[in-house]
Amino acid sequence: MRVQVAIVGGGPAGHLLGQLLHKAGIEAIVIERHSREYVLGRIRAGVLEQGTTDLLDEAGVGARMHHEGLLHGGISLDFGGTHHRIDLHHLTGGKQVMVYGQTEVTRDLMDARAAAGLATAYEAEQVSLHDFDGERPRVRYVQHGVAHEVECDFIAGCDGYHGVSRASVPASALQTFERIYPFGWLGMLTDTPPVSHELVYTNHARGFALCSMRSHTRSRYYLQCSLDDKVENWSDQAFWDELRRRLAPDLAEQLQTGPSIEKSIAPLRSFVAEPMRFGRLFLAGDAAHIVPPTGAKGLNLAASDVGYLGRALTEFYAGNEGGINAYSDTCLRRVWKAVRFSWWFTSLMHKFPDSGGFGEKIQAAELDYLIHSQAASTALAENYVGLPL
Ligand code: APR
Ligand code: PHB
Repeated sequence: MRVQVAIVGGGPAGHLLGQLLHKAGIEAIVIERHSREYVLGRIRAGVLEQGTTDLLDEAGVGARMHHEGLLHGGISLDFGGTHHRIDLHHLTGGKQVMVYGQTEVTRDLMDARAAAGLATAYEAEQVSLHDFDGERPRVRYVQHGVAHEVECDFIAGCDGYHGVSRASVPASALQTFERIYPFGWLGMLTDTPPVSHELVYTNHARGFALCSMRSHTRSRYYLQCSLDDKVENWSDQAFWDELRRRLAPDLAEQLQTGPSIEKSIAPLRSFVAEPMRFGRLFLAGDAAHIVPPTGAKGLNLAASDVGYLGRALTEFYAGNEGGINAYSDTCLRRVWKAVRFSWWFTSLMHKFPDSGGFGEKIQAAELDYLIHSQAASTALAENYVGLPL
């Protein structure tokens, strides 16, 4: 088989790139290791910046998101027994975020791809990348026992942190930067109405908590937990009790509880691999960088990477190589700003095992400053809604 672009990985990054290329008349195949159902079974964050919703519109998949998604003009910071609204809309000159789960974004992209009859290889095993340092890269894989080879002009490595794309680059050509945080997030999804109509980020002496949502009837809550904690240690009742302890009293009182639909623990990490291009291989999304979920930047960064890549490849086929040559530097400027923001917001809101009384006093002073200084709350707001593309 021969295509212009072979996309390795069919998560949100790979599927969004596929749609953007399709709109530009560029032929691509998406090669995904797992089944469609498996990919849709992963529960991830659900806050979209306007730049991301614009790209989904450009890709022609925004309709259900605009119908079912929730526009939020603010978030709350909960600490010291009370909560304070950060008016994102006012502080950013009218911007908002869209609350719409990553699972739904991916489902819309997969449905659009299937409806257009575009090539997708699910359950692709032994995926390997070849000759991307020359003009004729190839991707090989085995599907249901049959070996396949795809010849292409470019490979887009959209296969996440554990994928084969970054691992195929010689280690000497890569520089990596990493920070591991000394805690995880225990997440729980429930069919209960959200405790507040906007997201609440809580800094409490017992640890961070987040009240998020997927709709008016489905909530997503998180608790900071220790790295060696296990989901089995947390009954639904234990989760609700701990969440109630961490929330401001008026929120705790309003909290509506019910059985969980899903519970999982995720570690927190910041990671960047540079550069994001090697010859004719481009890395995008989690394949190139990871941020901790505080602030929900992961999916938005994946979207901005593939937005740049889609444009760069479109320009290339129109005879201009400028975009593909600038791809890595353009992405990394934005990536590092989101890495910085996610690190900062994580540092501000979590209980750090070793920071002691000094660290807690500094957090309290910064939170107080944040809610009383328009300059400081504007800095939070403009990063939260997303820096310009
Ligand atoms: N071959 C083919 N596909 C692979 C391989 C491989 N060797 N390894 C992994 N994959 C697939 C995974 O099964 C997954 O479906 O690549 C996809 C990568 O998807 P994600 O991990 O979701 O990464 P990405 O598309 O970059 O999405 C960005 O935003 O909210 C954050 O981390 C969150 O997933 C999210 C990310
Ligand atoms: C989520 O809804 O899962 C979510 C929202 C905001 C975050 C992280 C996760 O910062």
